[in-house]
Amino acid sequence: MQTVFRAPRGLGGALTPPSDKSLTHRALMLAAVATGRSEIDRPLETGDCISTARCLQALGVKMDRLPGDGVARLAVDGVGLQGFREPAAVLDAENSGTTLRLLSGLLAGQRLFAVLSGDGSLLRRPMGRVVKPLAALGADIRGREGGGYAPLCFLPGSGTLRGAALDLAVASAQVKSCLLLAGLRAEGPLCLSGRTDSRDHTERMFTALGLPLRAEAGTLRLEPARSVPSFSMRVPGDVSSAAFFVTAALVSGRGLEVRGCGINPTRMGFLEVARRMGADVQVAEEGLSLGEPFGTIRLTPGSGLRGCVVEEGEVPELIDEAPLLAVLGLFAQGRTEVRGAGELRHKESDRIDMVVSMARALGGVVEASGDGFSVEGPQKLHGGTVDPAGDHRIAMAAAVASAGIEGEVRVTGFEAARVSYPDFTTDFRALGGEAE
Ligand code: S3P
Repeated sequence: MQTVFRAPRGLGGALTPPSDKSLTHRALMLAAVATGRSEIDRPLETGDCISTARCLQALGVKMDRLPGDGVARLAVDGVGLQGFREPAAVLDAENSGTTLRLLSGLLAGQRLFAVLSGDGSLLRRPMGRVVKPLAALGADIRGREGGGYAPLCFLPGSGTLRGAALDLAVASAQVKSCLLLAGLRAEGPLCLSGRTDSRDHTERMFTALGLPLRAEAGTLRLEPARSVPSFSMRVPGDVSSAAFFVTAALVSGRGLEVRGCGINPTRMGFLEVARRMGADVQVAEEGLSLGEPFGTIRLTPGSGLRGCVVEEGEVPELIDEAPLLAVLGLFAQGRTEVRGAGELRHKESDRIDMVVSMARALGGVVEASGDGFSVEGPQKLHGGTVDPAGDHRIAMAAAVASAGIEGEVRVTGFEAARVSYPDFTTDFRALGGEAE
Protein backbone atom coordinates (compact mmCIF):
# COMPACT_ATOMS: atom_id res chain seq x y z
CA MET A 1 0.00 0.00 0.00
CA GLN A 2 1.28 3.45 -0.94
CA THR A 3 -0.07 6.50 0.90
CA VAL A 4 0.21 9.97 -0.62
CA PHE A 5 0.63 12.96 1.72
CA ARG A 6 0.19 16.61 0.80
CA ALA A 7 -0.02 19.62 3.06
CA PRO A 8 -0.17 22.72 0.84
CA ARG A 9 -1.22 24.99 3.74
CA GLY A 10 0.94 23.17 6.30
CA LEU A 11 -0.39 21.40 9.40
CA GLY A 12 -1.59 22.86 12.69
CA GLY A 13 -4.51 23.03 15.15
CA ALA A 14 -5.37 20.76 18.07
CA LEU A 15 -4.29 17.15 18.58
CA THR A 16 -5.00 14.40 21.10
CA PRO A 17 -2.20 11.91 20.45
CA PRO A 18 -2.61 8.13 20.77
CA SER A 19 -1.89 6.64 24.18
CA ASP A 20 1.70 6.14 25.22
CA LYS A 21 3.26 2.95 23.93
CA SER A 22 5.96 2.62 26.61
CA LEU A 23 3.43 3.13 29.40
CA THR A 24 0.91 0.69 27.92
CA HIS A 25 3.55 -2.08 27.72
CA ARG A 26 4.54 -1.48 31.34
CA ALA A 27 0.97 -1.22 32.61
CA LEU A 28 0.09 -4.53 30.91
CA MET A 29 3.15 -6.33 32.26
CA LEU A 30 2.88 -5.02 35.82
CA ALA A 31 -0.86 -5.75 35.88
CA ALA A 32 -0.12 -9.30 34.64
CA VAL A 33 2.17 -10.07 37.59
CA ALA A 34 0.13 -8.12 40.16
CA THR A 35 -2.06 -9.73 42.77
CA GLY A 36 -5.70 -9.18 41.78
CA ARG A 37 -7.51 -7.19 39.10
CA SER A 38 -6.02 -4.01 37.62
CA GLU A 39 -7.77 -1.55 35.32
CA ILE A 40 -6.06 0.25 32.48
CA ASP A 41 -7.91 3.16 30.88
CA ARG A 42 -6.96 4.21 27.36
CA PRO A 43 -4.31 1.54 26.72
CA LEU A 44 -2.71 1.88 23.28
CA GLU A 45 -4.57 -0.84 21.41
CA THR A 46 -2.35 -1.33 18.43
CA GLY A 47 0.53 -3.34 16.95
CA ASP A 48 3.29 -3.40 19.57
CA CYS A 49 1.04 -3.35 22.62
CA ILE A 50 -1.24 -6.01 21.15
CA SER A 51 1.90 -8.17 20.85
CA THR A 52 2.51 -7.71 24.59
CA ALA A 53 -1.12 -8.46 25.47
CA ARG A 54 -1.15 -11.63 23.33
CA CYS A 55 2.09 -12.94 24.86
CA LEU A 56 0.72 -12.34 28.37
CA GLN A 57 -2.53 -14.09 27.46
CA ALA A 58 -0.52 -17.07 26.17
CA LEU A 59 1.11 -17.14 29.63
CA GLY A 60 -2.32 -17.52 31.26
CA VAL A 61 -3.18 -13.88 32.02
CA LYS A 62 -6.87 -13.02 31.49
CA MET A 63 -7.86 -9.66 30.04
CA ASP A 64 -11.36 -8.24 29.55
CA ARG A 65 -12.50 -5.12 27.79
CA LEU A 66 -14.71 -3.09 30.09
CA PRO A 67 -17.58 -0.86 28.99
CA GLY A 68 -16.40 2.77 28.77
CA ASP A 69 -17.58 6.11 27.38
CA GLY A 70 -16.18 5.43 23.95
CA VAL A 71 -12.78 5.02 25.64
CA ALA A 72 -10.92 1.72 25.68
CA ARG A 73 -10.77 0.19 29.17
CA LEU A 74 -9.10 -3.06 30.01
CA ALA A 75 -9.25 -5.25 33.12
CA VAL A 76 -6.26 -7.51 33.71
CA ASP A 77 -6.40 -10.37 36.21
CA GLY A 78 -2.89 -10.58 37.62
CA VAL A 79 -1.43 -14.04 38.24
CA GLY A 80 1.29 -12.94 40.68
CA LEU A 81 5.05 -12.87 40.19
CA GLN A 82 5.31 -16.63 39.70
CA GLY A 83 1.90 -17.49 38.30
CA PHE A 84 2.57 -17.74 34.56
CA ARG A 85 1.39 -20.92 32.81
CA GLU A 86 3.88 -22.61 30.47
CA PRO A 87 2.98 -21.33 26.98
CA ALA A 88 1.89 -23.95 24.45
CA ALA A 89 3.57 -22.22 21.51
CA VAL A 90 6.30 -19.73 20.68
CA LEU A 91 5.55 -16.26 22.09
CA ASP A 92 5.58 -13.78 19.19
CA ALA A 93 6.69 -10.23 19.99
CA GLU A 94 6.30 -9.39 16.25
CA ASN A 95 7.95 -5.96 15.63
CA SER A 96 8.20 -4.95 19.29
CA GLY A 97 11.60 -4.70 21.00
CA THR A 98 9.91 -3.50 24.19
CA THR A 99 7.74 -6.63 24.31
CA LEU A 100 10.68 -8.95 23.80
CA ARG A 101 13.11 -7.27 26.18
CA LEU A 102 10.72 -6.46 29.03
CA LEU A 103 9.02 -9.84 28.88
CA SER A 104 12.47 -11.47 29.06
CA GLY A 105 12.75 -9.99 32.56
CA LEU A 106 9.46 -11.58 33.60
CA LEU A 107 10.29 -14.98 32.05
CA ALA A 108 13.87 -15.27 33.35
CA GLY A 109 14.32 -18.09 35.86
CA GLN A 110 10.61 -19.00 35.98
CA ARG A 111 9.63 -22.65 36.51
CA LEU A 112 8.69 -23.05 32.86
CA PHE A 113 10.00 -23.39 29.33
CA ALA A 114 9.26 -20.55 26.91
CA VAL A 115 10.50 -19.30 23.54
CA LEU A 116 10.26 -15.62 22.58
CA SER A 117 10.56 -14.63 18.93
CA GLY A 118 9.59 -11.84 16.55
CA ASP A 119 9.56 -10.58 12.97
CA GLY A 120 12.55 -10.19 10.64
CA SER A 121 13.45 -6.75 12.06
CA LEU A 122 13.33 -7.94 15.68
CA LEU A 123 15.48 -10.99 14.91
CA ARG A 124 18.25 -8.60 13.76
CA ARG A 125 18.20 -6.49 16.96
CA PRO A 126 20.76 -7.13 19.73
CA MET A 127 19.48 -9.23 22.64
CA GLY A 128 22.80 -10.05 24.35
CA ARG A 129 22.21 -6.79 26.25
CA VAL A 130 19.40 -8.50 28.20
CA VAL A 131 20.56 -12.15 28.02
CA LYS A 132 23.95 -11.48 29.67
CA PRO A 133 22.74 -9.51 32.72
CA LEU A 134 19.80 -11.91 33.22
CA ALA A 135 22.33 -14.77 33.25
CA ALA A 136 24.20 -12.88 36.01
CA LEU A 137 20.94 -13.05 38.01
CA GLY A 138 20.92 -16.82 37.51
CA ALA A 139 18.63 -17.24 34.48
CA ASP A 140 19.32 -19.89 31.84
CA ILE A 141 18.54 -18.34 28.46
CA ARG A 142 19.68 -19.50 25.03
CA GLY A 143 19.53 -17.60 21.77
CA ARG A 144 21.05 -17.48 18.32
CA GLU A 145 24.74 -16.58 18.06
CA GLY A 146 25.52 -17.40 21.67
CA GLY A 147 22.50 -15.61 23.08
CA GLY A 148 23.05 -12.50 20.98
CA TYR A 149 19.81 -12.65 19.00
CA ALA A 150 16.22 -13.94 19.26
CA PRO A 151 14.55 -16.38 19.20
CA LEU A 152 15.35 -16.60 22.90
CA CYS A 153 14.71 -19.81 24.75
CA PHE A 154 14.01 -19.60 28.52
CA LEU A 155 14.87 -22.81 30.37
CA PRO A 156 13.03 -23.67 33.58
CA GLY A 157 14.56 -22.32 36.80
CA SER A 158 13.63 -22.20 40.46
CA GLY A 159 11.19 -19.31 40.08
CA THR A 160 13.54 -16.94 41.85
CA LEU A 161 16.74 -15.15 40.81
CA ARG A 162 19.69 -13.84 42.80
CA GLY A 163 20.47 -10.21 43.49
CA ALA A 164 23.43 -8.55 41.75
CA ALA A 165 25.18 -5.26 41.13
CA LEU A 166 25.21 -4.52 37.41
CA ASP A 167 26.77 -1.71 35.43
CA LEU A 168 24.63 -0.74 32.41
CA ALA A 169 26.78 -0.12 29.33
CA VAL A 170 24.00 1.33 27.11
CA ALA A 171 21.38 3.91 28.02
CA SER A 172 18.41 1.66 27.24
CA ALA A 173 15.11 1.80 29.10
CA GLN A 174 14.26 -1.62 27.69
CA VAL A 175 17.35 -3.18 29.28
CA LYS A 176 16.91 -1.29 32.55
CA SER A 177 13.22 -2.20 32.75
CA CYS A 178 13.87 -5.84 31.87
CA LEU A 179 16.27 -6.06 34.82
CA LEU A 180 13.98 -4.22 37.22
CA LEU A 181 11.12 -6.57 36.33
CA ALA A 182 13.41 -9.57 36.88
CA GLY A 183 14.67 -8.00 40.11
CA LEU A 184 11.16 -8.15 41.58
CA ARG A 185 11.69 -11.92 41.96
CA ALA A 186 15.32 -11.77 43.13
CA GLU A 187 16.31 -13.11 46.54
CA GLY A 188 18.71 -10.23 47.19
CA PRO A 189 18.97 -6.57 46.21
CA LEU A 190 19.49 -5.56 42.60
CA CYS A 191 21.73 -2.51 42.05
CA LEU A 192 21.95 -0.87 38.64
CA SER A 193 24.60 1.74 37.90
CA GLY A 194 26.18 3.23 34.75
CA ARG A 195 23.81 4.27 31.97
CA THR A 196 20.57 4.46 33.93
CA ASP A 197 19.78 7.79 32.20
CA SER A 198 17.04 6.48 29.90
CA ARG A 199 13.25 7.06 30.21
CA ASP A 200 12.22 6.37 33.80
CA HIS A 201 8.64 5.05 33.42
CA THR A 202 9.36 1.75 35.15
CA GLU A 203 10.97 3.50 38.12
CA ARG A 204 8.03 5.91 38.46
CA MET A 205 5.47 3.11 38.29
CA PHE A 206 7.38 0.98 40.81
CA THR A 207 7.53 3.92 43.21
CA ALA A 208 3.84 4.76 42.72
CA LEU A 209 3.01 1.11 43.50
CA GLY A 210 5.08 1.22 46.70
CA LEU A 211 7.66 -1.28 45.40
CA PRO A 212 11.00 -1.07 47.26
CA LEU A 213 13.04 0.89 44.70
CA ARG A 214 15.43 3.71 45.62
CA ALA A 215 17.27 6.02 43.23
CA GLU A 216 20.41 7.78 44.41
CA ALA A 217 23.00 9.61 42.32
CA GLY A 218 22.25 7.68 39.14
CA THR A 219 22.14 4.29 40.90
CA LEU A 220 18.98 2.24 41.29
CA ARG A 221 18.55 -0.20 44.18
CA LEU A 222 15.61 -2.61 44.24
CA GLU A 223 15.02 -4.74 47.33
CA PRO A 224 13.26 -8.09 46.93
CA ALA A 225 9.50 -7.65 46.48
CA ARG A 226 7.11 -10.42 47.48
CA SER A 227 4.25 -9.16 45.34
CA VAL A 228 2.99 -6.33 43.14
CA PRO A 229 -0.29 -4.66 44.17
CA SER A 230 -3.08 -4.27 41.61
CA PHE A 231 -3.72 -0.73 40.36
CA SER A 232 -5.77 1.57 38.14
CA MET A 233 -4.12 3.73 35.55
CA ARG A 234 -5.20 6.07 32.78
CA VAL A 235 -2.52 6.06 30.07
CA PRO A 236 -1.59 9.59 28.89
CA GLY A 237 -0.92 10.45 25.24
CA ASP A 238 2.41 9.56 23.65
CA VAL A 239 4.72 12.55 23.34
CA SER A 240 6.80 10.64 20.75
CA SER A 241 3.71 10.32 18.54
CA ALA A 242 2.80 13.97 19.13
CA ALA A 243 6.35 14.88 17.99
CA PHE A 244 5.44 14.06 14.36
CA PHE A 245 2.82 16.80 14.27
CA VAL A 246 4.97 19.16 16.34
CA THR A 247 7.54 18.78 13.55
CA ALA A 248 4.89 19.36 10.89
CA ALA A 249 3.63 22.50 12.65
CA LEU A 250 7.19 23.85 13.06
CA VAL A 251 8.02 23.22 9.43
CA SER A 252 4.82 24.94 8.30
CA GLY A 253 5.05 27.86 10.76
CA ARG A 254 1.67 26.97 12.31
CA GLY A 255 0.52 26.67 15.93
CA LEU A 256 -0.38 23.36 17.60
CA GLU A 257 -2.02 22.40 20.89
CA VAL A 258 -1.36 18.83 22.08
CA ARG A 259 -3.87 17.70 24.72
CA GLY A 260 -3.75 14.93 27.33
CA CYS A 261 -0.11 14.21 26.59
CA GLY A 262 2.53 12.54 28.74
CA ILE A 263 5.17 15.09 29.75
CA ASN A 264 7.63 12.90 31.67
CA PRO A 265 10.90 14.92 31.82
CA THR A 266 12.90 11.94 30.48
CA ARG A 267 10.85 12.10 27.26
CA MET A 268 11.06 15.86 26.66
CA GLY A 269 14.43 16.04 24.89
CA PHE A 270 12.90 16.67 21.46
CA LEU A 271 10.85 19.63 22.70
CA GLU A 272 13.97 21.04 24.39
CA VAL A 273 15.87 20.85 21.10
CA ALA A 274 12.89 22.34 19.22
CA ARG A 275 13.11 25.32 21.61
CA ARG A 276 16.81 25.67 20.84
CA MET A 277 15.94 25.65 17.16
CA GLY A 278 13.66 28.65 17.72
CA ALA A 279 10.27 27.15 18.64
CA ASP A 280 8.07 28.67 21.32
CA VAL A 281 6.90 25.62 23.33
CA GLN A 282 4.87 25.92 26.56
CA VAL A 283 4.10 22.88 28.71
CA ALA A 284 1.32 22.94 31.34
CA GLU A 285 1.12 20.00 33.76
CA GLU A 286 -2.44 18.95 34.62
CA GLY A 287 -2.03 15.84 36.74
CA LEU A 288 -0.25 12.57 37.52
CA SER A 289 -1.22 9.05 36.53
CA LEU A 290 0.64 6.32 38.46
CA GLY A 291 3.58 8.69 38.85
CA GLU A 292 3.46 9.90 35.25
CA PRO A 293 2.84 13.64 34.64
CA PHE A 294 0.51 14.64 31.80
CA GLY A 295 -0.80 17.93 30.44
CA THR A 296 -1.02 20.26 27.44
CA ILE A 297 1.80 21.27 25.11
CA ARG A 298 1.32 24.55 23.21
CA LEU A 299 3.40 25.45 20.23
CA THR A 300 3.25 29.03 18.94
CA PRO A 301 4.62 29.77 15.48
CA GLY A 302 8.08 31.34 15.78
CA SER A 303 10.16 33.39 13.39
CA GLY A 304 11.91 30.47 11.67
CA LEU A 305 14.05 27.50 12.61
CA ARG A 306 17.81 27.51 13.11
CA GLY A 307 20.08 24.46 13.16
CA CYS A 308 21.64 23.15 16.36
CA VAL A 309 23.93 20.43 17.68
CA VAL A 310 22.58 17.57 19.81
CA GLU A 311 25.23 15.92 21.99
CA GLU A 312 25.45 12.32 23.20
CA GLY A 313 24.16 13.06 26.71
CA GLU A 314 20.89 14.42 25.28
CA VAL A 315 20.23 11.43 23.04
CA PRO A 316 18.42 9.06 25.49
CA GLU A 317 15.68 11.65 26.05
CA LEU A 318 14.94 12.01 22.33
CA ILE A 319 16.01 8.65 20.93
CA ASP A 320 12.69 7.95 19.17
CA GLU A 321 12.44 11.50 17.82
CA ALA A 322 15.90 11.59 16.20
CA PRO A 323 14.55 11.05 12.64
CA LEU A 324 12.42 14.16 13.17
CA LEU A 325 15.53 16.20 13.92
CA ALA A 326 16.73 15.30 10.42
CA VAL A 327 13.42 16.58 9.04
CA LEU A 328 13.66 19.83 11.04
CA GLY A 329 17.30 20.20 9.97
CA LEU A 330 16.30 20.08 6.29
CA PHE A 331 14.15 23.20 6.79
CA ALA A 332 16.27 25.04 9.42
CA GLN A 333 18.84 27.72 8.72
CA GLY A 334 22.41 26.40 9.15
CA ARG A 335 23.80 23.10 10.40
CA THR A 336 21.92 20.54 12.48
CA GLU A 337 23.94 17.67 13.87
CA VAL A 338 23.17 14.68 16.08
CA ARG A 339 26.20 13.05 17.75
CA GLY A 340 26.70 9.99 19.94
CA ALA A 341 23.49 8.32 18.76
CA GLY A 342 24.87 4.92 17.66
CA GLU A 343 21.79 3.29 19.27
CA LEU A 344 19.82 4.52 16.24
CA ARG A 345 21.48 1.75 14.26
CA HIS A 346 19.72 -0.85 16.45
CA LYS A 347 16.11 0.27 16.16
CA GLU A 348 13.34 -1.20 13.97
CA SER A 349 15.69 -0.24 11.13
CA ASP A 350 19.13 1.38 11.01
CA ARG A 351 17.67 4.83 11.51
CA ILE A 352 20.91 6.63 10.59
CA ASP A 353 20.97 5.06 7.13
CA MET A 354 17.21 5.45 6.86
CA VAL A 355 17.16 9.23 7.42
CA VAL A 356 19.81 9.56 4.72
CA SER A 357 17.76 7.55 2.21
CA MET A 358 14.50 9.25 3.24
CA ALA A 359 16.03 12.71 2.59
CA ARG A 360 17.54 11.55 -0.70
CA ALA A 361 14.17 10.24 -1.91
CA LEU A 362 12.64 13.66 -1.21
CA GLY A 363 15.44 15.56 -3.00
CA GLY A 364 17.53 16.48 0.07
CA VAL A 365 20.89 15.60 1.60
CA VAL A 366 21.56 14.26 5.10
CA GLU A 367 25.13 13.07 5.83
CA ALA A 368 25.59 9.97 8.00
CA SER A 369 28.42 9.51 10.50
CA GLY A 370 29.20 6.35 12.47
CA ASP A 371 26.97 7.41 15.36
CA GLY A 372 24.79 10.21 14.05
CA PHE A 373 24.03 12.51 11.13
CA SER A 374 24.24 16.12 10.01
CA VAL A 375 22.19 18.35 7.73
CA GLU A 376 22.87 21.76 6.14
CA GLY A 377 19.69 23.70 5.69
CA PRO A 378 17.47 25.03 4.47
CA GLN A 379 17.07 22.74 1.48
CA LYS A 380 14.43 22.90 -1.24
CA LEU A 381 12.85 19.46 -1.47
CA HIS A 382 10.77 18.28 -4.42
CA GLY A 383 9.02 15.37 -2.69
CA GLY A 384 9.03 11.81 -3.95
CA THR A 385 8.55 8.21 -2.85
CA VAL A 386 9.99 6.95 0.43
CA ASP A 387 10.30 3.27 1.32
CA PRO A 388 10.58 3.18 5.14
CA ALA A 389 11.55 -0.53 5.11
CA GLY A 390 8.72 -1.34 7.54
CA ASP A 391 9.90 1.19 10.18
CA HIS A 392 6.91 3.07 11.63
CA ARG A 393 8.87 6.13 12.74
CA ILE A 394 10.58 6.60 9.36
CA ALA A 395 7.21 6.23 7.59
CA MET A 396 5.65 8.99 9.73
CA ALA A 397 8.75 11.25 9.60
CA ALA A 398 8.54 11.17 5.79
CA ALA A 399 4.80 11.91 5.89
CA VAL A 400 5.20 15.05 8.05
CA ALA A 401 8.07 16.31 5.89
CA SER A 402 5.34 17.01 3.32
CA ALA A 403 4.33 20.02 5.47
CA GLY A 404 7.39 21.85 4.12
CA ILE A 405 7.30 20.58 0.53
CA GLU A 406 5.29 21.87 -2.43
CA GLY A 407 5.10 18.46 -4.08
CA GLU A 408 3.71 15.30 -2.55
CA VAL A 409 5.32 12.62 -0.39
CA ARG A 410 4.42 9.03 -1.19
CA VAL A 411 5.22 6.44 1.48
CA THR A 412 5.20 2.76 0.57
CA GLY A 413 4.00 0.31 3.21
CA PHE A 414 2.61 3.13 5.35
CA GLU A 415 0.62 0.54 7.32
CA ALA A 416 3.86 0.09 9.32
CA ALA A 417 2.75 3.22 11.24
CA ARG A 418 0.07 1.12 12.93
CA VAL A 419 2.51 -0.31 15.46
CA SER A 420 2.46 3.00 17.36
CA TYR A 421 -0.01 5.42 15.69
CA PRO A 422 -3.08 3.69 14.23
CA ASP A 423 -4.98 6.92 13.42
CA PHE A 424 -2.09 8.85 11.93
CA THR A 425 -3.72 9.58 8.56
CA THR A 426 -6.98 10.67 10.27
CA ASP A 427 -5.03 13.12 12.43
CA PHE A 428 -2.98 14.26 9.42
CA ARG A 429 -6.23 15.21 7.65
CA ALA A 430 -7.78 16.78 10.78
CA LEU A 431 -4.76 19.09 11.06
CA GLY A 432 -5.26 20.33 7.49
CA GLY A 433 -3.35 17.89 5.28
CA GLU A 434 -4.43 15.47 2.56
CA ALA A 435 -3.68 11.76 2.86
CA GLU A 436 -4.95 9.11 0.48
C1 S3P B 1 11.43 2.05 24.98
C2 S3P B 1 12.75 2.34 25.05
C3 S3P B 1 13.54 2.81 23.91
C4 S3P B 1 12.64 3.32 22.79
C5 S3P B 1 11.50 2.41 22.50
C6 S3P B 1 10.64 2.22 23.75
C7 S3P B 1 10.74 1.57 26.19
O1 S3P B 1 14.32 1.74 23.42
O2 S3P B 1 13.42 3.49 21.61
O3 S3P B 1 10.67 2.96 21.47
O4 S3P B 1 9.49 1.57 26.23
O5 S3P B 1 11.44 1.19 27.14
P1 S3P B 1 15.79 1.40 24.01
O6 S3P B 1 15.62 0.96 25.40
O7 S3P B 1 16.30 0.31 23.12
O8 S3P B 1 16.57 2.67 23.86
